[in-house]
Amino acid sequence: MPISSKIAESLTHSSWIRRMFETGIILKKQYGEENVFDFSLGNPDLPSPPEFDAVLADEANKKGCFIHGYMPNAGYPETRIAVSDMLRRESGLEFTENNIIMTCGAAGALNVILKSILESGDEIFIIAPYFPEYDFYIDNHQGVKVESRSTEDFLPDLDDLKTKINSRTRAVLINSPNNPTGRIYPSHTLKKLGELLLAKSESIGHPIYLLADEPYKKIVYDGLKYISPLSFYKNTILATSFSKDLSLAGERIGYLAVSPLIEDFGDIISAATFCNRILGYINAPALMQRVIKRVLNSSVDVSIYQRRRDILYNALKKIGYVVMKPEGTFYMFPKSPIADDIKFVKALQEKRILVTPGSGFHRPGHFRISFCVSEQTINRALTGFEEVFKKYSCL
Ligand SMILES: Cc1ncc(COP(=O)(O)O)c(C=O)c1O
Repeated sequence: MPISSKIAESLTHSSWIRRMFETGIILKKQYGEENVFDFSLGNPDLPSPPEFDAVLADEANKKGCFIHGYMPNAGYPETRIAVSDMLRRESGLEFTENNIIMTCGAAGALNVILKSILESGDEIFIIAPYFPEYDFYIDNHQGVKVESRSTEDFLPDLDDLKTKINSRTRAVLINSPNNPTGRIYPSHTLKKLGELLLAKSESIGHPIYLLADEPYKKIVYDGLKYISPLSFYKNTILATSFSKDLSLAGERIGYLAVSPLIEDFGDIISAATFCNRILGYINAPALMQRVIKRVLNSSVDVSIYQRRRDILYNALKKIGYVVMKPEGTFYMFPKSPIADDIKFVKALQEKRILVTPGSGFHRPGHFRISFCVSEQTINRALTGFEEVFKKYSCL
């Protein structure tokens, strides 16, 4: 075989999100773009804010030697200083530029930290439902994924974690605000999680890292605030990006931030800086680093996502769907009225509505709606959502 058998195997199981996206392309050719309601991809559709455009134009106009050249693998010191100032203000912890590594998005940050900490066979815990790319990131670095349940209201089931953590456990990966549920983990959950990880680290004799994947931290609704796990657990490492809150998913810019309180700080930072290089990223994109430094407090207009959430949530509830109101992100994760979420999603497809089955996020019996689409698309899809619900709910 010309390619690795492992990759060949992965190619035969392309992700549900991708499959839906590809089905969308076919349907759009058949029925016309405007007649397909594509809620499959989490590709932010809002424009980046005007201040981003202005700073980008300004930075793009700058001239000089090495302006687009290699730089320290961790990124420009000025950008890392700006990020660390922000994190120091937010957390009250003594972040400096030495705690920050600029990365190619949150995905880059996660791959860098996993490569840095994993021995072959080490376990990484993930709370289901979860972003399915995590499986590949963990496998890329010879880790073993272990799933832990979430509760009915999509918070980590700490009793389940408690029974499963063992001496092979290297880290727990959490994601709040959560893709696919839209849940923000509250402080009491983070506090208990921190206590559990501290006790377990002591009993197994090495630190269990808490990896917090937080690319949706600014996409929060109803005046709620994202709560960082930093103040609840010393061995915390943040992975994030500007893909979602500045609509820069294609520009591949994010960062890894290592808590100033973490054990073995120097080793972790040296390893992660080295891994950023040897994974082939070398460094995060130069132009984007210079821009980001100047727009760290900006974000897209989150009220637009909130309005879409309200329209969709209110309408689905009225139809009869069981659904939790998302507190953040641009995803909603209703229950499928039948246990077979794949069958239900296929029925929605017949109405040209594309959503992703919960099975794709390791939580069958649900489906994910991504509302990176216009209000008009949402409104026009509601009849289809209602017809399919009625057909299945009376079976
Ligand atoms: C939970 C989660 N983590 C990480 C990523 C990767 O984001 P990035 O574009 O910053 O690499 C995504 C993208 O959708 C995501 O949903």
